[in-house]
Amino acid sequence: MVWFADFDTRGYRMVDVRTGYGQWVSTYEETVEDVMDLALLDRLTEPSWETARRAVDLGCGTGRTAAWLRRHGVTAIDGVDLTPEMLAVARSKGGHDRLFEADVTATGLDGGAYDLVIASLIDEHLADLTPFYAEAWRLAEPGALCVIVAFHPHFIMASGMPTHFTSASGEPIAITTHVHLLSDHVMAGVTSGWRLVEMREGVIDDRWLAVKPKWERYRNHPISAVLVWRKGA
Ligand SMILES: C[S@@+](CC[C@H](N)C(=O)[O-])C[C@H]1O[C@@H](n2cnc3c(N)ncnc32)[C@H](O)[C@@H]1O
Repeated sequence: MVWFADFDTRGYRMVDVRTGYGQWVSTYEETVEDVMDLALLDRLTEPSWETARRAVDLGCGTGRTAAWLRRHGVTAIDGVDLTPEMLAVARSKGGHDRLFEADVTATGLDGGAYDLVIASLIDEHLADLTPFYAEAWRLAEPGALCVIVAFHPHFIMASGMPTHFTSASGEPIAITTHVHLLSDHVMAGVTSGWRLVEMREGVIDDRWLAVKPKWERYRNHPISAVLVWRKGA
């Protein structure tokens, strides 16, 4: 087990997920860079998005992922999130058919109902990945794909930075952050039954530096990763 506290160079006050995203919600979409997650989705050769019949968007937040999915031909999407304020924004944007306030490790949704399970930028908030991959497996129908966009452990370690935002009063506030090695993902997925079919890593490149020039010192460091899993052969 690797602990974020061993790498923390910021020492920001840390709050739980609901408290943190409940406050971050008003500025969230201005501060999350598409190059972190959507650029990785753009690089995948699987799934063939337009053939997805029904997707579930775990940790859907304000609906950024759902908006990307709809632009790529996914027409039926359910969303799950723990933070009511994030769900309210997602609801106002209308990218999901149904939205549920629930933990991604115990959604209460019907099992075997989805041929696409997707979760973007939530893994660092989960203490243990196994219950999450197990719930994704339960939700998936045979042959379904599961796409996980993760915060790269290398970047959390090298930068010493937790997931954080600046509050209305100007205080930087961290949201509970866990470090998951890529092998934590692989073993949680494999032991839940998933088969890894594609994986990509995003590094700090010119696209990143165009939006975050002060990160020049991290050039070529990996910052995010996407794993694509299949349920079955
Ligand atoms: C960084 S945001 C990502 C939102 C969206 N997927 C995106 O890419 O913009 C993380 C979201 O995960 C949600 N979240 C974190 N832990 C969760 C959990 N255990 N169950 C459900 N939602 C969770 C938070 O409330 C927040 O909306």
